[in-house]
Amino acid sequence: MTAPALEAVDLTKTYGSVEALRGASFSVHPGEVVALIGDNGAGKSTLVKCMAGAEQPTSGTIRFEGAETRFDSPTDARRRGIETVYQDLAVAPELDPAANLFLGREIRRPGVLGALGMLDKKAMRRRAAEEFGRLGVALQSIDVPIGSLSGGQRQSVAVARSVVWASKVVFMDEPTAALGVVQRERVLDVIRRVRDEGVAVVLISHNMPEVLSVSDRVEVLRLGRRVARFTAKDATLEDLVGAMTGALHQEEA
Ligand SMILES: Nc1ncnc2c1ncn2[C@@H]1O[C@H](COP(=O)(O)OP(=O)(O)OP(=O)(O)O)[C@@H](O)[C@H]1O
Ligand SMILES: [Mg+2]
Repeated sequence: MTAPALEAVDLTKTYGSVEALRGASFSVHPGEVVALIGDNGAGKSTLVKCMAGAEQPTSGTIRFEGAETRFDSPTDARRRGIETVYQDLAVAPELDPAANLFLGREIRRPGVLGALGMLDKKAMRRRAAEEFGRLGVALQSIDVPIGSLSGGQRQSVAVARSVVWASKVVFMDEPTAALGVVQRERVLDVIRRVRDEGVAVVLISHNMPEVLSVSDRVEVLRLGRRVARFTAKDATLEDLVGAMTGALHQEEA
């Protein structure tokens, strides 16, 4: 068995007097989709932020490909192949979709112009159009500021941006929440595709049928700690709901 792509052991995170994480553990392997589920406020987003460099855990251990590590910032995590689609979408509303796709990774013009910081907008547009096409993101134009797109289109762009750059792990915090039926299915297809390419995918979702249809495993968070783990094909809706609400308790503190 290979080492998990990413593993969190016994993380705590406090915000003032609020204990968002109270000894939370989590793991995901390469080529696996793990759903991270739990009630509102269970600590899912906080756990993801701690594993993606957006927050520092108060205590606990993070291992990346078997080695203990810390991520100083989201940029640090991204450099190591870990991408995140945040629940509170982190797109730049004034930029167009192509510019959003390349945010922080802009392609420069060749030669001296590039050295002076001139960007190769044409190359970025071309590559963005290719990627959006490949991922089935339907946009009427890639030349408009992303702030003028619908919520679902913006979300699709955020998902596309994460999977284009993720080589090891991609976290998706409720990526389908704003999507219609067709776009939702496309995102689920994208999730399966990047999983099949060997990337570790972590999906946060409140939609249990979606969780059971797309994930290989499910880890359940309750009150800031992991309370249960399931193999998706052996789990029922009742199992998941029972674990989230506290009716069923697998793991003791
Ligand atoms: N920046 C913050 N400052 C203070 N408290 C926070 C902060 N972020 C999260 N919390 C608290 O930590 C707890 C866990 O929040 P978190 O956002 O991780 O939950 P969640 O499982 O993602 O919930 P949801 O399903 O509603 O998105 C909540 O009680 C929340 O109020
Ligand atoms: Mg959340």
